[in-house]
Amino acid sequence: MTIFRIFSIAAIAGSMVAALYPITAYCQSNADPTDPGKAVFKRANCMGCHKWHGNGGGGYGGDALSLRKTELTREQIIETVRCGRPGTGMPFFERGAYDSVQCHGMNRQDAGNQVPPEAGVFLRAKDVEDVADYVIAHIKGKEEPTLAECFSFFSETSRVCDIYKKSEQAPSSSAAKAQ
Ligand code: HEC
Repeated sequence: MTIFRIFSIAAIAGSMVAALYPITAYCQSNADPTDPGKAVFKRANCMGCHKWHGNGGGGYGGDALSLRKTELTREQIIETVRCGRPGTGMPFFERGAYDSVQCHGMNRQDAGNQVPPEAGVFLRAKDVEDVADYVIAHIKGKEEPTLAECFSFFSETSRVCDIYKKSEQAPSSSAAKAQ
């Protein structure tokens, strides 16, 4: 191998790195700022009761309300996650809620048998804010879940999303028939 060839390989490699750098920088700056909240939504198993799309429904924990239809503000969502909702299956996620941490102005004694269940994982204040921001940005006020939303929650290869493919194809194929 000649010196010249070694130099040209190095030059090519160098220019590849240079070409890739802006791409990675671009991807990073384009990351969704609510991704940490999405991770909390998965890790804290909000999706176990409210479903990935937030529509909720019956199941473990009772009838989880629709987070799409919620009218709660950011502050109210934060409080609901920290303290759960007394007398319902919505668990509290803050360590020490109703003990050392004031919730709805009640301690365990005041709340009695209305103390909500304790969540499977405790969340830090930052996690609770992140998950509230995620709910506001991606769930609250949204119409029915779409294939694109499903892909962005799971991944483009997720079979969970297959049902949205069918339901989105159906109207267009019936529209084709109607023409
Ligand atoms: C064990 C099941 C369960 C889990 C896990 C759960 N929830 Fe809930 N959630 C409920 C139920 C049940 C309700 C309805 C309470 C009621 O009837 O008022 C609810 C209500 C809510 C509400 C109030 C909605 C409204 O409009 O009043 C919010 C906000 C909420 N959940 C967010 C979350 C978030 C965020 C997580 C994850 C950190 C989570 N929930 C985890 C069961 C659950």
